[in-house]
Amino acid sequence: MKLLAFAASNSRKSINKQLVRYAASLADGAEVEMLDLNDYELPLFSVDREAELGQPELAKAFASRIAASDALLISFAEHNGSYSAAYKNLFDWVSRLDKKVFQDKPMVMLATSPGARGGASVLAAATDSAPRFGGHVKASLAIPGFYQNFDVERGMLKNEDLRTKLKTAVNSLSELVPA
Ligand SMILES: Cc1cc2nc3c(=O)[nH]c(=O)nc-3n(C[C@H](O)[C@H](O)[C@H](O)COP(=O)(O)O)c2cc1C
Repeated sequence: MKLLAFAASNSRKSINKQLVRYAASLADGAEVEMLDLNDYELPLFSVDREAELGQPELAKAFASRIAASDALLISFAEHNGSYSAAYKNLFDWVSRLDKKVFQDKPMVMLATSPGARGGASVLAAATDSAPRFGGHVKASLAIPGFYQNFDVERGMLKNEDLRTKLKTAVNSLSELVPA
């Protein structure tokens, strides 16, 4: 299974990137490819810029990475209860190539934040809307209190209960897609 994993954040020290990297390591038999949103930075979307720029190569490249994968693993940063501007901007551009941004791939959606809700609002928005964009969400999990529950130095969850939940969530993909 080719698993494409990324954080929906453009922070260099993204806690969602740390989480998604660890989560991907728990996927049995997966060939993991990590993607960085900073490599897909585009001008702020507007219909006027779209008229000028057409379909940017970077948007096509991002869609191609999804096309080449068997499954997706995304961890969402929450900004004011919603998506980071970096993710939403890229998503808007890519949605203009094809509304099925997720291309009928099975996917697991995660979120984390330092707060008590762990990005539950952005995760709800992402999971609720995914089917309209060709996303088949098999599991989702918000990890609250990132700095309490994640060992940043070792790059792993230290909370055993959350670790089990995360492994189960991620392996809902391995069950679906043969190695
Ligand atoms: C503009 C802004 C808005 C934020 N809003 C929220 C929020 O609504 N809920 C939350 O739990 N954390 C919020 N945070 C804190 C983020 O969860 C925290 O910055 C986290 O590190 C973002 O994930 P990332 O490191 O993967 O980018 C906000 C941070 C910023 C900079």
